[in-house]
Amino acid sequence: MNIRIATDHDREDIKRIYSSAFPKGEREIVTKLAVELLSEKTIPKTISLIAEVDDVVVGHIAFSPVRIDDSDHCRAYILAPLAVQADCQRRRIGSMLIEYGLRQLSVAEINIVFVYGDPKYYGRFGFDAETARNYIAPCELQYPFGWQAVVLKECSGRGAPSTITCVRSLCDPELW
Ligand SMILES: CC(C)(COP(=O)(O)OP(=O)(O)OC[C@H]1O[C@@H](n2cnc3c(N)ncnc32)[C@H](O)[C@@H]1OP(=O)(O)O)[C@@H](O)C(=O)NCCC(=O)NCCS
Repeated sequence: MNIRIATDHDREDIKRIYSSAFPKGEREIVTKLAVELLSEKTIPKTISLIAEVDDVVVGHIAFSPVRIDDSDHCRAYILAPLAVQADCQRRRIGSMLIEYGLRQLSVAEINIVFVYGDPKYYGRFGFDAETARNYIAPCELQYPFGWQAVVLKECSGRGAPSTITCVRSLCDPELW
């Protein structure tokens, strides 16, 4: 398996993956997010990664920067979205995309990475709800237990809860 940076040319493959991985009703909004993040201009940059097997795109993940209000010294990202083509799941492709992305962010000295998803899955990679407890998600959460974070590099927090601000593509309350 090969992991590389996604480009605009991967748009159709990304749509195909999300259509196969998510049920109707959910797939539209998540696909829109994955595609929009390809052209989201941010500093630091938004990272979209593609997993390929035999030159066929089989997985996608994105990490976009988030701002922790009143905490400029603490650098953070959020993992969203993630999908592996339906007939390629359970071959560790999702795991490898997450691990690869977290390694890149670690090298870039990012302090903390957030995710909103199933704790049973993301717990495998060190994400937990306790770490995210003091950070207020950008929108009201339908499943508060899914709000998690992993610390890559310690940064001293204020102790008081801080609000997270995310990129434009993620600011749709329907995603949360
Ligand atoms: C979630 C997803 C990305 C995992 O990718 P993958 O390549 O299949 O995952 P891996 O092979 O690395 O890991 C598979 C393991 O994760 C578990 N798993 C997969 N999805 C899970 C979920 N939603 N909750 C809990 N466990 C999950 C599997 O049971 C499997 O466990 P096992 O190896 O002990 O049997 C993929 O299943 C997918 O695209 N699902 C639909 C979209 C989705 O839910 N995306 C995540 C949004 S939060």
